[in-house]
Amino acid sequence: MLKEILSKIYNNPLGLLQRGIFKIFIAPFKYRKGDDYNAEKYWQDRFSKYGKTLTASGDEGLSEEENRRDYQLAVNTMIAILHQEKFNFDQIQVLEIGCGTGFYTQLLHDLNVKNYIGVDITDVLFPEFSKKFPNYNFIQKDVTTEGIIAQQFDLIMMIDVIEHIVTKDKLDFAMKNIQKCLKTNGVFIIAPIMETSKKHLFYLHSWTIQDIKGNFPDEEYTFRELIPFRQSSILVIQKN
Ligand SMILES: C[S@@+](CC[C@H](N)C(=O)[O-])C[C@H]1O[C@@H](n2cnc3c(N)ncnc32)[C@H](O)[C@@H]1O
Repeated sequence: MLKEILSKIYNNPLGLLQRGIFKIFIAPFKYRKGDDYNAEKYWQDRFSKYGKTLTASGDEGLSEEENRRDYQLAVNTMIAILHQEKFNFDQIQVLEIGCGTGFYTQLLHDLNVKNYIGVDITDVLFPEFSKKFPNYNFIQKDVTTEGIIAQQFDLIMMIDVIEHIVTKDKLDFAMKNIQKCLKTNGVFIIAPIMETSKKHLFYLHSWTIQDIKGNFPDEEYTFRELIPFRQSSILVIQKN
């Protein structure tokens, strides 16, 4: 973490200062709503600004190349997890929450997943996705306020989304939403899981395994060991 901060200062001190001023003083005026924020507007503006680059969904303080390196590490872990689950990729139903720039959509496509639904709070990139993945479906929804979809899935992925849900009520709503969509023996993969529960910025909150576990009764779900993932951990939950 310290290394990353030092690298940002070294690489682009002015950029870091500008982003700091924007995120601490300007953006809250634009997006904050009490203890929450206007997530749809925030993500619509962010994807409109950065398009399909990894800076849109990754760390704005890193270069595209650094984000790509980070994502590559994440993807190696994800591939290992997915293979461990022994899925028949061409047969399973997959739901991805917060598909962002389509990074994991591409991975699932490469793994030969045929049945895929991507949900995101903003549809800015959906026209591109429809061209690139014509057999996949994309739905605009806020998983913290609306039912996702009346269907059940073998695999649900939600990567780098929960840290952008900043109230516990909304986190709980989203987790209950996901439960309803998970088949028996289905697997839910979620990251980042942090060590402390804490709000950092108007659009950033870290959540712990306890925050998640409270929504998944022990007798109905199996929690695997946490796996290191970027600067956090990833959690695999299976419905018994
Ligand atoms: C940091 S990006 C991660 C994107 C992608 N999962 C990845 O790892 O590259 C967060 C994504 O979650 C989406 N998102 C944020 N809040 C959401 C919500 N309440 N419901 C649905 N999607 C949401 C954003 O629009 C964005 O695409």
